Amino acid sequence: MPTILSIDDLRELAKRRIPRALFDYAAGGSYDERTLARNTADLDAMTFRQRVMVDVSKISLATTMAGGGVSMPLAIGPTGLAGLFHADGEILAAKAAEACGIPYCMSTMSICSIEDVRAATRQPFWFQQYLMKDRGFNQELIDRAAASQCSALMLTLDLQVLGERRRDPRNGLTIPPRLSIRNALDVATKPAWALKVLFGKRRTFGNLAGRIGGSSGIRTLAEWTATQFDPSANWRDVEWVRSRWPGKLLLKGVLDAEDARLALAAGADAIVVSNHGGRQLDGAPSSISVLREVVETIDGRCEVLFDGGIRSGQDIAKALALGARGTLIGRSFLYALAAAGEAGVVKAIEILRNELRVTLALTGSTSVDAVGPHILRAPG
Ligand code: GLV
Repeated sequence: MPTILSIDDLRELAKRRIPRALFDYAAGGSYDERTLARNTADLDAMTFRQRVMVDVSKISLATTMAGGGVSMPLAIGPTGLAGLFHADGEILAAKAAEACGIPYCMSTMSICSIEDVRAATRQPFWFQQYLMKDRGFNQELIDRAAASQCSALMLTLDLQVLGERRRDPRNGLTIPPRLSIRNALDVATKPAWALKVLFGKRRTFGNLAGRIGGSSGIRTLAEWTATQFDPSANWRDVEWVRSRWPGKLLLKGVLDAEDARLALAAGADAIVVSNHGGRQLDGAPSSISVLREVVETIDGRCEVLFDGGIRSGQDIAKALALGARGTLIGRSFLYALAAAGEAGVVKAIEILRNELRVTLALTGSTSVDAVGPHILRAPG
C-alpha cells in the first residue's frame, strides 16, 4: 500500500480500486457542481490565528453528539451505496466507527441492511431516512431502526426531488452494478473489486428488499427517487416522524435560518447544516458560509451539526470554531472505504483525529469545548 498521509491520498487510492462510475458517484455533485466546489473552497479560504506558548501537553477531543459520548466531534455521515465501494461496506464502516469511538449513520440507500449491520456490531448506530410516498414504508423503517436499537434517526429534508448528477448517466451507473461493453475495460483493471462486489453476494439496496420488485426493479438513483420520494412532504410530515420516533431526531439539510427555526419547532434534537455535499441545489451557498447564521438562530436550543467539504482535521476545527457541535464526513469516508475497507476507514478517522489535535494545539486550544471564533482570523 502506498504511504497514506491524507484524505487525498485515500481518494487517489480509491480511484485506482473502484470503477469510474462509482468513484464519480461519490466525487460528483449536481449540475455544474458549483456548490460542490464552494464547500471546499470556502473552508480553504478560512485561516486560523496561530497562538504560541500555551501549555498544550494535554488536549481533549472527547465530547457528545446527539446525546452520546464520542471520542472526537466526528460521525460517519449517511451515504448511499457504501456496500458497493467495498464488499460489506456498511458493516465495515460501523465496525471502524465503533473501534474509533464515533457514531456511524447508516443510509436507507445502503447495500447491507439495518439488520446486517446490527448483527455484526455491538454499539448503537444512527439510521437515516427520507420521506417516502408510502408512509407505511417510513413506519416500517422506523420500526426496524428501533428494533435494531439505533440511537438516533436522521431525517433528510433536502431530497424531495433529485438534483441531477450528470456524471451518473454519463457513466451509466446502475444498481446493481453490471458489466457492460462500456465499462468492461475499466472493470478489468479493478479485478479485486469485481470479484468481491460485482460478483459478490450483496449488490443492491439491502433495506428495500421486497419494496422495489427485487434486484431487477430500480436501476438508477433518479428512477428510485422519482418513484419513491414524496415531493409533497412538508413540516407536518416531519412532526409525524417526530411522533413516531422515541429516540433522538436529527434533521439534515438545513441551510437557512428560517428553516432552522422550523426544524427546531418540529422537534429536532439536532440540526445538520448541509447542502447534501453539493449534490442537490446547485447555486446553494457552501455549508460553512451559513453555519454561523444557523448557530446564532438556534442559540443553544438544540445541537447544530455540520457537513459539507470536510477533508481534514483543520476543516473540522473551522466548523467547530463557527459553532458546530460535531461534523459528518461523506466523501472522505467513501474514499477510505474504497481504498482499504475497514482499515482504510480507521485510517481516515485517525488522520482527521491527529490533524484536529495538532490544529487545536497550534491555535492554543486544549479541548474541543474551548474552540470558538477566536481561533479564526477575520477575513482581510
Ligand atoms: C443520496 O442521498 C445521494 O446523495 O446520492
